[in-house]
Amino acid sequence: MERLTSPPRLMIVSDLDHTMVDHHDPENLSLLRFNSLWENAYRHDSLLVFSTGRSPTLYKELRKEKPLLTPDITIMSVGTEITYGTSMVPDHGWVETLNNKWDLGVVKEEASKFPELKLQAETEQRPHKVSFYVDKSKAQEVTKELSQRFLKRGLDVKIIYSGGMDLDILPQGAGKGQALAYLLKKLKTEGKLPVNTLACGDSGNDAELFSIPDVYGVMVSNAQEELLKWHAENAKDNPKVIHAKERCAGGIIQAIGHFKLGPNLSPRDVSDFLECKVENVNPGHEVVKFFLFYERWRRGEVENSEAYTASLKASSHPSGVFIHPSGTEKSLRDTIDELRKYHGDKQGKKFQVWADQVLATDTTPGTWIVKLDKWEQDGEERRGCTTTVKFTAKEGEGLVWEHVQQTWSEESKVKDDSSWII
Ligand code: GLC
Ligand code: MG
Repeated sequence: MERLTSPPRLMIVSDLDHTMVDHHDPENLSLLRFNSLWENAYRHDSLLVFSTGRSPTLYKELRKEKPLLTPDITIMSVGTEITYGTSMVPDHGWVETLNNKWDLGVVKEEASKFPELKLQAETEQRPHKVSFYVDKSKAQEVTKELSQRFLKRGLDVKIIYSGGMDLDILPQGAGKGQALAYLLKKLKTEGKLPVNTLACGDSGNDAELFSIPDVYGVMVSNAQEELLKWHAENAKDNPKVIHAKERCAGGIIQAIGHFKLGPNLSPRDVSDFLECKVENVNPGHEVVKFFLFYERWRRGEVENSEAYTASLKASSHPSGVFIHPSGTEKSLRDTIDELRKYHGDKQGKKFQVWADQVLATDTTPGTWIVKLDKWEQDGEERRGCTTTVKFTAKEGEGLVWEHVQQTWSEESKVKDDSSWII
């Protein structure tokens, strides 16, 4: 959060499973549309918060499976664990507040008396979250009886039913909504209260997100029955909450447009790159657009036309260099020539490219440094490079690529120099 010196323009607080991530879309198209919109228009002045029911273990697994961006803040285990930044520094202050009228041993003991409750995996049992599976038909009754038992034992807990199968027991002060309220308060103290906040979800544990004051909300089109029921009973007349027409991340983009929270045209929804050339003076935008072009070029989705190569060459400095992750130095223009040979080599194959954490800084007037993580999914293999691009801005000529340097990123499982173009 330190990178922001003023209040974020937009804070998106989104659930992951079936909200940011569409498990029915093997190509992850809506997620990739969201990603390029975020990196292009919001990353530099806004905050991305993931709020998931998953434990840190399962959250990290999801990151390996899906092309998720790196959030600024991660809220896990249904609002019981909050961490900051790429290195996921835990918020110890938050954890302390959760001990009020909470006793893990008693919760487990009482819950074990219900044969209808089937304990979830060990990884999902956390210091302030005990999780079970329970049949839809039994959920309401079990919840009621459990609450009474806990009350008798002097505990103040919250029981949440999600996805028509998961039952979570948390301290009363926990949950996704309370975690968001805590975060907003903290940001306000730091003078960084977001101008707008948009909460996004699909299931029972997301309901609380939609009752935090001054927060816009979107229930994605594929929202679960229990969330829609909650909405009908509690928030039907709140114009700040909508039920999107689009699934998952598509619904988030729709909500950005609906509430007029800022740009809502994803670069992935623009088919002609050359057309939007003139207005483009944003170096972050330039990089997002280039790597999208690169994906389409290799997938053979853009025409194999000289105009593209000519335009790329025109915007790269004649003596510009590219330092490949292998350490080899090449000229930028030779790299563009090399790229020509690869047109359509990934046609019909699983090949996707996305940029993460795109941040531009203007060093000296007219000079920009853009840093990002460039990821490439090639079949079952995923590789990522920390990428630095130096641009110069020339009057009337737009941005010129001067220098590109890549090194394998730490999280990149495969660090194979061969067949990596840029
Ligand atoms: C995630 C968690 C699970 C929890 C569910 C609903 O799936 O892994 O433990 O019950 O979210 O909150
Ligand atoms: Mg979900």
